[in-house]
Amino acid sequence: MCGIIGIVASSNVSGQLLESLQRLEYRGYDSAGIATLSNGELDRRRAKGKLQALIDVVSTSPLEGQVGIGHTRWATHGAPSAINAHPHLSGRVAVVHNGIIENYVALKADLMASGHVFESDTDTEVVAHMIEAALASGAAPLEALKSTLDRLEGAYALAVIVEGENDLVMGARRGSPLVVGYGDGEMFIGSDALAVGPFTNRITYLEEGDYVAINRESARIFDAEGNSVERAKHTVASSAVLVEKGNYRHFMEKEIHEQPDSSQHTLARYIDPVAGSPSEHILDFTGISRLQVVACGTAYYAGLVGKYLIEDIAGIPVDIEIASEFRYRNPVMDPGTLTVAISQSGETADTLAALRWCKERGLRTAAIVNAHQSTMAREADIVLGTYAGPEICVLSTKAFTAQIVVLISLAIAGARQRGRIDVATERRYVRELLEAPRLIAQTLSIERQIANLAQDLMRSCDMLFLGRGVMYPMAMEGALKLKESSYIHAEGCAAGEMKHGPISLIDDVTPVVVLAPSDELFDKTMSNLREVIARSGPVTMITDAEGAARAPSEVRVIIVPTGPKLINALIYAVPLQLIAYHIGVCKGTDVDQPRNLAKSVTVE
Ligand code: F6R
Repeated sequence: MCGIIGIVASSNVSGQLLESLQRLEYRGYDSAGIATLSNGELDRRRAKGKLQALIDVVSTSPLEGQVGIGHTRWATHGAPSAINAHPHLSGRVAVVHNGIIENYVALKADLMASGHVFESDTDTEVVAHMIEAALASGAAPLEALKSTLDRLEGAYALAVIVEGENDLVMGARRGSPLVVGYGDGEMFIGSDALAVGPFTNRITYLEEGDYVAINRESARIFDAEGNSVERAKHTVASSAVLVEKGNYRHFMEKEIHEQPDSSQHTLARYIDPVAGSPSEHILDFTGISRLQVVACGTAYYAGLVGKYLIEDIAGIPVDIEIASEFRYRNPVMDPGTLTVAISQSGETADTLAALRWCKERGLRTAAIVNAHQSTMAREADIVLGTYAGPEICVLSTKAFTAQIVVLISLAIAGARQRGRIDVATERRYVRELLEAPRLIAQTLSIERQIANLAQDLMRSCDMLFLGRGVMYPMAMEGALKLKESSYIHAEGCAAGEMKHGPISLIDDVTPVVVLAPSDELFDKTMSNLREVIARSGPVTMITDAEGAARAPSEVRVIIVPTGPKLINALIYAVPLQLIAYHIGVCKGTDVDQPRNLAKSVTVE
């Protein structure tokens, strides 16, 4: 969960390296660095903190050179500091790395015993020393890389430059993604298509175990055994425009506002509005007796929403588990189980490992994934893409609602295929789902009210979110979003569970946000809300017009559009995201890149 870039060009590359790192900053942002071959010699600049710190360093102390590598870091081994920032050097070699070298302690001990001196606390530095040691013993650069890779355990995407090699950047991947980008008289390797997006949209996605050598004109790719291989070239949709903030202050704000479009784009892939049914290709449920969802964070909450809806509408049992737990126990799986991984990035290490665990046991796998060329998208048997477009803010918003759109489509398709609903009911559900983009757009119009609410809530130390049914996972998602955006401690609880413990947290300064659409659970939720009021808890109730009419006078009410129950999660996602966004902005946090987080969590 760092970002890497390597460039061979015919003019100075430091500007391009920094531009690429700007695109990659979502992957990590506690330090950054670049190294180039300047007049044939290695030179580097590094800085602790956001990329801007490195940009400032480079502007006062420019770096020349037509061959270079760059890195933006999310610390795993070694504190975020300039000394631990990549690139790491040893002799003629400079290396940037995304991943974790698990056997670095033993490798480092060997290297130190043979006289290598280390300057950082990172796992990565061993890679630079190992390549250097191989070069010193006479190996050519690619041989030195290969012999090093053969001894590494763990996950890596690497970019390497070597002093004296003025037309070469080497790269390798195992467990972490790496792409090759083809320019005109310049070539690139980078963590993803966004990294090379400013320079080219012609891309090769390296396969697990591949390593590569690029020069100004071409790329030579080898598989893990060292065989020269061809990998397909793709022309990716030009995403340059999509990754600009446009008129918005933050990517988070932009991405929240993109949800009418992102949900529409996703719907268009799964719903046939003319036939009034899910598209035929969505999923054949024959032989599937159970779904096992694995996911992390926000994607997990999308899965939980999916569980409620799929079990309710399609009658298919759905188990769901946090991927980091699933992979380290022995879940009981039967052959009729379809494992469904949900992930925006398609690279989350725990989710990927859970998917692989199921594949290895012969189970069918599907991935609901936003990054369509990601490892999960390539490894799952069935790919159910979300079409939210690149999500740059570290906090997931539009990918979350797109995941729910896919899950609702699956619920309808499963229900129909299993004969749980008739054609008329299927058409009704489809009509309701097709309302989602319009109702999400309408919900966005409450933003001013939420901005005012944020002014009042921003000084809180703790907040509670309550909901029943589908609003329970939504309450947990609202709490997660708020923690990330504002560093306010928040919890999402099932409203009915309050009295079993969390109610002890209620006092007159802890705001409680209650999600209460006027459905069959409304009265139950109101009872829980009254329990909070009775204990002087300040309550904000998010509800529709009918719910507002029945709201107790003590509560502050935010009214969202009245939607069909089927899509309430999509409607209520919007106020929750806006609360998190506006409280974060009021508090002055960096909502796009909150502390300690990274967008793509490719470590355990
Ligand atoms: C929350 C958030 C994270 C991710 C989680 C999974 O706003 O963004 O909780 O949802 O890290 O990431 P993906 O979906 O890429 O697997």
